[in-house]
Amino acid sequence: MCGIVGAAARRDIVPVLIEGLRRLEYRGYDSCGVAALTDGALERVRSVARVEDLASQVRSRKLAADTGIAHTRWATHGAPATHNAHPMMSRGQIALVHNGIIENYEELRAQLKAAGYEFDSQTDTEVVAHLVHSLYDGDLFQAVRRAVKRLTGAYAIAVVASDRPHSVVGARAGSPLVVGVGEGEMFLASDALALAGTTERIAFLEEGDVAEIDLGGFRVRDASDREARRPVRTVQAGASKVDLGPYRHYMQKEIFEQPGALADTLEGVESVTPAPFGKEAARMLRGAKSVLVLACGTSYYAGLTAKHWIESLARLPTQVEIASEYRYRASVPDKDALVVVVSQSGETADTLAALRHARKLGQKRSLAVCNVPTSAMVRETKMQFLTRAGTEIGVASTKAFTTQLAGLFLLALVLAKLRRRLPARAEKEHLRRLRHLPNAIAAALALEPQLIAWAERFAKKEHALFLGRGLHYPIALEGALKLKEISYIHAEAYPAGELKHGPLALVTEDMPVVTVAPNDTLLEKVKSNMQEVRARGGELYVLADADTRIAPQEGMHVIRLPEHYGLLSPILHVVPLQLLAYHAALARGTDVDKPRNLAKSVTVE
Ligand code: M6R
Repeated sequence: MCGIVGAAARRDIVPVLIEGLRRLEYRGYDSCGVAALTDGALERVRSVARVEDLASQVRSRKLAADTGIAHTRWATHGAPATHNAHPMMSRGQIALVHNGIIENYEELRAQLKAAGYEFDSQTDTEVVAHLVHSLYDGDLFQAVRRAVKRLTGAYAIAVVASDRPHSVVGARAGSPLVVGVGEGEMFLASDALALAGTTERIAFLEEGDVAEIDLGGFRVRDASDREARRPVRTVQAGASKVDLGPYRHYMQKEIFEQPGALADTLEGVESVTPAPFGKEAARMLRGAKSVLVLACGTSYYAGLTAKHWIESLARLPTQVEIASEYRYRASVPDKDALVVVVSQSGETADTLAALRHARKLGQKRSLAVCNVPTSAMVRETKMQFLTRAGTEIGVASTKAFTTQLAGLFLLALVLAKLRRRLPARAEKEHLRRLRHLPNAIAAALALEPQLIAWAERFAKKEHALFLGRGLHYPIALEGALKLKEISYIHAEAYPAGELKHGPLALVTEDMPVVTVAPNDTLLEKVKSNMQEVRARGGELYVLADADTRIAPQEGMHVIRLPEHYGLLSPILHVVPLQLLAYHAALARGTDVDKPRNLAKSVTVE
């Protein structure tokens, strides 16, 4: 989604701004821009193409400056068009970039119009630029502090003024913003990753902070307008490799990285102990009387799978909620609940807001299962389990999902053990399977040629149904989400038992029906559901296990995973579905890593 970079230095910072935007590109955007301050004048360059196009415009205009801001925009208010791209300017004196959504922008727009300001865009951001301008009398830090008091909504902003060289002011509420500390030069960014290669010394701004950077350092005022100190930490945000290697797409690379990602995530797990969840985990987990999982998208499906594990192994009541629903619902809080936020990025606006909402309701025992150690969710929870999937670039989440599942399975084991429900023999067997997981995933990846054959048939379809039961229903949901988000084939998932309550009406010979059918206790039920499909002429694509007695026949294609993997089976069964979606998208020629309308990190509501 949107990204911000800002810099104040004694050297030309335009290459730093462009490089920062390149590093944020993977999050998804539809336009980008830069504003540079040279000799008292703000010069702006914008593009509705890629950052590379912006870079070439900047080169041909020989743009160079020691102060500036830059942005990648993911359209919310106003179409993706040059006039809506950031930075927004006010009367040539103020340039401003913004992540988030200003909810009261219409009211402010009307007031600023009445005061004589003219608007060139449909964005909520231009309102903030004019607002800062209207309050500016030479003290930019103060003007921004006064302006943000009038904003409702979520934002991170960075602002420069034409008569304030070597100064950039930033503010955040609901969207992340960090300060990067260099030698006699300072930076602002929406993610430390944007500054990788420039500085690793990072200060994280907190909710309501306004900060000013200049050549000598940075100063911060908190939400109550008091001076505040934000510690500078060393953050190796660029440490993980993000090159494509021999792969065609990041998604493909990330699918094949799963054995390594799981091995890294489970490294050091020799026994079932609360230690991987943080120092206070033993005490906090022991006291939990229920579990509430909050997440969005694929991470939500990880939560749905975890519900089965936690309830069956630890016998703890578990509720899984879509974060954007939970935050606005009059739920009945359990003060003794363990609140688990699951998120690859740790910055998803709805999940973060749901976590804060749960805290406000008195549910303070919180755990983040997250892939980004420096993220807001990791900083705002009492316990953390860090998945070590490495940077995930493809918008479609793959290795983050399987590593989340591994972390959540471990959580279920820990809760079971703390509640004396994990006999030593069972503990040993679960750990053995967890350790073997990377090899088992590698065997599932070897099924790729068969999935390519399926994908070629799917590529010609416009709709697909996915079925699963019990532990594998969330995997059917995930398979349908993967297929729709990158191949644009309309896909729906149902618990197979629901078929005859409605979706069976859709089944014809044109409707491929993917069925997740492992050799578990529900297999016979799933087989009956498959018969219901065959009887209506529907074409079945069945993901079975080696020892499942389901044979391919007319109208029924079968791929067998090498072995049945017990409670961990969902982690294996999702892999062929990722490959199916990837190859169907490839066959349809879509933009696999950056599907239309989607962003990697959803930092707005
Ligand atoms: O970073 P998060 O895990 O919080 O992101 C949640 C969803 O936005 C994400 O899983 C999304 O659904 C993916 N595009 C799915 O592939």
